[in-house]
Amino acid sequence: MKTFYLTTAIDYANGSPHLGHAYEKVLADVIARSKRLLGSPVRFVTGLDEHGQKVQQGAEAEGIDPIQRCDRVAEEFESMLRLLDISNDDYIRTTQERHKKVVAHLLQELHDRGEIYEAEYQGYYSTRAEQFLQEKDKVNGEWPEIFGEVTQITERNYFFRLSKYRDWLVSHLEENPGFIEPAHRQNQVLEFLKEPLNDLCISRPKDRLNWGIPLPFDTDYVTYVWFDALVNYVSAAGFGDPGFEQLWPADLHVIGKDILAPPHAVYWPIMLKASNLPLPARILAHGWWTSSGAKMSKSTGETVDPLSLAERYGSDPFRYFVMREMKVGNDAEFSLERFESRYRADLGNDLGNLVSRLLHMSATYEEGVTPEVGLNEGPEKKIGLLWESTKEEALKFFLEYQFSQGLERVFSFIRGINKYADERTPWKLAKSEAPEDRQALRTCLGTMIEALRLANALLAPVMPSVHASINDRLGLEPCCSWKEDLSWDHRLSGKKLGEKTILFPRDV
Ligand code: MSP
Repeated sequence: MKTFYLTTAIDYANGSPHLGHAYEKVLADVIARSKRLLGSPVRFVTGLDEHGQKVQQGAEAEGIDPIQRCDRVAEEFESMLRLLDISNDDYIRTTQERHKKVVAHLLQELHDRGEIYEAEYQGYYSTRAEQFLQEKDKVNGEWPEIFGEVTQITERNYFFRLSKYRDWLVSHLEENPGFIEPAHRQNQVLEFLKEPLNDLCISRPKDRLNWGIPLPFDTDYVTYVWFDALVNYVSAAGFGDPGFEQLWPADLHVIGKDILAPPHAVYWPIMLKASNLPLPARILAHGWWTSSGAKMSKSTGETVDPLSLAERYGSDPFRYFVMREMKVGNDAEFSLERFESRYRADLGNDLGNLVSRLLHMSATYEEGVTPEVGLNEGPEKKIGLLWESTKEEALKFFLEYQFSQGLERVFSFIRGINKYADERTPWKLAKSEAPEDRQALRTCLGTMIEALRLANALLAPVMPSVHASINDRLGLEPCCSWKEDLSWDHRLSGKKLGEKTILFPRDV
């Protein structure tokens, strides 16, 4: 079976991690964990994009070498990954030898085959965006703020023959409707391709920028950051090594909508095509976390640092919040109130209370052992059926990377378990000595425990620690296969349960 090769964007080393970076890594992690639960071998890679003018300038301002700055930022990002329980198998940094050699190799090959040529460039250049501009980039006759100072320059540079692949790319998109998700983004890329495509300048003269990978065929230049950064996906897969075909083509690139077109949806497919390498199967473009409607970044200066919520409440509530709150592909507005409300309502009241009262009742009425279920009446049939539809729908959503909707189903099942208890009223049954009431009580607790075990199996990729701790109370190891652990079979009957626990304390 081919290994499911999954990547995220590699973050810029010119800033510190924030909610946008954190969300993307959690999203990819939930996908990686879901795939593993479905039995697929997975390779999950993330990393750091370290070259470019801003990193060079930042280091100069601090009076240190760019690599020292990158090492420090890499440590910050890697500690974010640990904080959020991200299960990546690799962390690629574009300053690593394994990456630089692949960039140089691909550039040399493209140059040898005439796909890269030298020419004189005359036009506008934005230092802030590290990008050449055209008249059409002006808005109302002015350069937009994001470009900072724009100057006119004339210089010799190297160009990649992007334009020659435009028609090919259009056909590829038309023939592969699911290449970019959500589908409306694929249409946006097709719109973008209606405009003529210019060849891409892939060099920067060293006297302007030296913090980059030298062009192998002209060491007076370094490589344009996007040409360098995108190659990480093949260098991390071990391009040129024997195991490469086991990973490449990638199964999924997870990225944000701001870097879809042109980098991932235009440059990258064309770079691969021109290098005779197969294209990734799919690109998933997620939306933005916003604050008062604007894209969140480190500089928007939130009063609450969203990452500190993971430190305070634990990584799982944070993971649940971002997965539940953002519909993949759309934007979502961050607010502390929304976070606290999800924490209190979904996690505390629905899930946390279910676990604690169920363990408490089992300890009090049944000596902490999962009872045998003797009845299968209306309420049991109803909750059993609810499980079957929940499983089917939640898995379908999860497979389509629609985790918010999938989690919505799981939590509505969890509320269903609480309703089932309200219907059977075990606390009342426990007061009676009548044999039919004893049997109804045992049935009720056994049914609730089975339902909790199943709901909890579906939470495993999103809240791995909470999942493990609930399973531990049920006397189980963490779930490692959805193929084996999602059937309603009362496998816990007669098994010892653990002590009551408070999963989501109120005072944090
Ligand atoms: N270095 C490039 C990516 C190169 S990939 C070969 C880059 N870095 S970034 O640090 O600016 O962004 C990294 C990822 O975080 C991107 O996918 C971006 O969309 C995502 N986010 C950054 N801010 C975001 C939000 N406010 N919300 C959600 N994600 C956003 O781009």
